Formats: sequence, structure tokens, C-alpha cells
Amino acid sequence: MDAGKTLEGVGKVGFVGAGNMAQAIGGALLRTGLLKASNIYVSSPSNTNKGPWIQFGTHTTTENGCVVENSDVIFLAMKPIYLDAALMDIKNTLKQPVSNKLFVSLLAGVPLKVLEEKIHRIVPDARVIRVMPNTPVLVGAGCSVFSCGTTATKKDAEVVKMMLSTGGICQEISESLIDAAGGLSGCGPAYVYLIIEALSDGAVKMGVPRAMATQFASQTVLGAAKMVLETGKHPGQLKDEVCSPGGTTICGIHALEKGGVRSTLMEAVEAATKRAAELGKNK
Ligand SMILES: NC(=O)c1ccc[n+]([C@@H]2O[C@H](COP(=O)([O-])OP(=O)(O)OC[C@H]3O[C@@H](n4cnc5c(N)ncnc54)[C@H](OP(=O)(O)O)[C@@H]3O)[C@@H](O)[C@H]2O)c1
Repeated sequence: MDAGKTLEGVGKVGFVGAGNMAQAIGGALLRTGLLKASNIYVSSPSNTNKGPWIQFGTHTTTENGCVVENSDVIFLAMKPIYLDAALMDIKNTLKQPVSNKLFVSLLAGVPLKVLEEKIHRIVPDARVIRVMPNTPVLVGAGCSVFSCGTTATKKDAEVVKMMLSTGGICQEISESLIDAAGGLSGCGPAYVYLIIEALSDGAVKMGVPRAMATQFASQTVLGAAKMVLETGKHPGQLKDEVCSPGGTTICGIHALEKGGVRSTLMEAVEAATKRAAELGKNK
């Protein structure tokens, strides 16, 4: 976040859906002091995910309309299959018509056109932005991308960028790229958790205690990512630099290549991207 910037003039922020992604973004907003807990409204049908919000001190409710009424910026943070139910609940629990609201969708796959059409049935002048965040937002190392709907303003884009930047990097991209970006960064933490777990398993197999192995695997992934980001070198060059002729690393690389790691990771991003498009089509 730019030093000195605040959410002045934006006011209150709501989350319709209280789960992992909402908690990651809400947690980042609170941790960095961009928002006070008293300026956050959260709704979900059950109490399953309300515990952390109650601890934060935010307002919680089961009525989605209450969140919309009280907030200037409303994050839609339910799974795509629950979008229609969530919007219906907004409609049914709004006590009066509302206007001048910015809706920010976190839903994988659901296009801006569909979001605008559905949201405008309830809040006709709503502005809409579509975001694809990831859960490392919670620890300040997130990677979020967003695209603006037809009536979203430059200020709306700035506000969303400022909010998401409290939890890492955030960039505006063309909507045509958002499913693919999500297939990488939105889903990517899960791919990397699996890789960390497997690296840890390898070290455990070779006699390293589990806790130590997981810590070393995680730090290694973090370190390699920082090397790519901070040196600006191509990952292939960095790989070459640590592969001594006849050494240990090139033997490890050979094992990875035999297992098809590159192709498998490419296929993971492709599969997730296609699934996002499918989820969007079903809406
Ligand atoms: N998790 C990620 O890494 C990630 C990354 C990028 C994008 N996203 C997107 O973020 C969205 C949320 O994902 P998540 O992982 O946070 O899911 P989650 O942990 O399952 O949370 C979903 C939340 O939506 C609530 N909900 C369900 N039906 C609702 C309704 N009718 N009205 C209001 N709230 C409702 C659930 O309520 P209960 O608490 O009562 O069950 C829950 O609090 C998804 O659309 C996903 O595509 C997630």
C-alpha cells in the first residue's frame, strides 16, 4: 500500500461470505490498519466461519442485505454456485433500496457481464469489479489481479488496488486473462503446498525429522521465489547457476524431468483455467 493512503471517502467495507478468502482480505485490511473492525460488515448463512470475524470485532450477521445497506464496498466472497442464492438473500433482506455501491466479486470464473446483469437487478446503479486474489493475502504475500466492469470508475480501481495491495501485489489486467491468472496465482498456493509437502516427504524418507523437513522445504521455496523476484534473472539461468557439472543438483533435476514436473505444472494451470471458464458458463 502507498504510504499515507487511507480509505478516506470509501467508508465501510462488507463481505457477503465469511470464509477463507474473505478472512484473508479482511485480515490484511485490519492488520495494516487500513480499516477499523467497526467499519467491516460480514454475512454468512451459518456460524461456521464467523469465529475469526467475532475475534476481529467486526459486525456479523446472517442477512446479506444488512451488509449491502451498511457498506460502500461489498466483496462477494461465496463459492460461484451460491451466487444466485446470495443475491436473492440480498434482495430479500434489504430494508430499503440502495444506490452508489461498489461490488467486488472474488468468484472464480464468473464474467463481469454476468455479474453486472445479476447485480443490477438488485442495485441498478452498482459498479462492479472482478478480482482474482489468493489466500497469501493474509500474510502480506498475496498476488491479486482485477478487471473493471462497464461503470466502475478510476477511483473504484484505485480503491480496490489499495485494499488488495495491503496483502501483497495487485494488478489490473484484461478480463480475457483473468481465468488464466487465477489458474496460476489463485490456485497456485495449493500447488506449492503440495510441492512443499512432497519435498518434505523426500527429506523425511532420507532421515530428516518431519518438522525440520517442512521448515527447510518452505524456506527453500520462499528463497527461490525471492531470488527470481529480486535478481530479475530468468529462472532457467538461476537453475543453471546451481547445477555443477556432475553434481548433486543436476541429479535431482534429472529425477524431476523424468517425472514430468514441467508438463504436470503446465497442465495444472491449464486445467484450473478451463474449470474457471466452465464455472462461469454455468452461471
Ligand atoms: N480460497 C482461495 O484460495 C480462493 C482464491 C481465489 C478466489 N477464490 C474465490 O473466493 C470465493 C470464496 O472462496 P473461499 O475459499 O473463501 O470459500 P469458503 O471458505 O467456502 O467460504 C465461502 C463463504 O460463503 C458463504 N456463503 C455460502 N452461501 C452463501 C449465501 N447464500 N450468502 C452469503 N454467504 C454465503 C459461506 O457461509 P458459511 O460460513 O455459512 O458456510 C462461507 O462463509 C470463491 O468464489 C472462490 O472462487 C478463492
